Amino acid sequence: MSQSGTTLDRVLAEVAAITGFSAHEYRPTTLKRRLELRLSATLSRNCRDYLAYLKKNPLEGYRFLDALFITVSDFFRDRPVFSYLEKEVLPGLIEEVSREKKKRLSVWSIGCSNGQEPYSLAMILDLARRKKKKSLKISILATDVSTKSLDLAKKALYRRAEMKNIPPKYKNEFFKKVNNDGFRIIDRIKKMVRFKQHDFIQEACPGKFDLISCRNMLIFFTADGQSEMFRKLHSSLKKRGILVLGRAETPKEEGLFRCLSPAHHVFRKVAAVYPIKSDPGEGKNAV
Ligand SMILES: C[S@@+](CC[C@H](N)C(=O)[O-])C[C@H]1O[C@@H](n2cnc3c(N)ncnc32)[C@H](O)[C@@H]1O
Repeated sequence: MSQSGTTLDRVLAEVAAITGFSAHEYRPTTLKRRLELRLSATLSRNCRDYLAYLKKNPLEGYRFLDALFITVSDFFRDRPVFSYLEKEVLPGLIEEVSREKKKRLSVWSIGCSNGQEPYSLAMILDLARRKKKKSLKISILATDVSTKSLDLAKKALYRRAEMKNIPPKYKNEFFKKVNNDGFRIIDRIKKMVRFKQHDFIQEACPGKFDLISCRNMLIFFTADGQSEMFRKLHSSLKKRGILVLGRAETPKEEGLFRCLSPAHHVFRKVAAVYPIKSDPGEGKNAV
């Protein structure tokens, strides 16, 4: 099955008219694949049929978006990344923030899905803070465009099958068994995370952060969309803030970030945009 650009545009325009959400920045291949799924789910023979279905059944506009927002996630997704953050990045960041007057470490988890990522970050931050014997406050803002995912995330309740990737020491310390198959994140960790609906493409950034985790979301966007997003990420980080990306994501623009670990896709904001002038704060041992 193939969809011409114009038919796809008409579907996107109809979805936008129904839901108010513009999906034009998503990669055409992603859009086409998601559209194919909806065609088959609605038993539409082709895009024209689907468009007619969409017009008659406005709820389908929201179902299309549910299919588009691929919310697959996991606790400690790519475990070595979280170990690297816990051991190599957070101790230095905690020291830096502790020297400031406010003593608050602020984190933004963008595209947080059902909460696994921000809660994993909360757990390693809690441990790293304790190891450093620091009393600084840690606040994690976790945002996603999908209200469905955010509703699940706020419950902080997970089934055994969803917890396979959690190392036992974290499972024992940070979860409470509520029944045979259900585990709840303990209150201390839950309270560190605040969930909010936010569309990273359309909306202004909600502040400046010491660390931003934006993993496995940028891959769904066009190259132009990604460039715009990297600039947004840069301006949402505090000076020398840390950016954590997914395995298939790397900033294409030069002069915005310096790579701390190519293996783990962890970056540090550099002070100057174009061109990078000598920055005394950007020494070799940055973390
Ligand atoms: C594949 S999941 C990644 C979840 C998590 N970051 C991880 O790596 O496991 C991508 C998430 O990005 C969210 N998303 C997609 N478009 C978005 C947008 N424009 N603004 C904010 N979140 C978005 C989706 O709803 C989904 O939860």
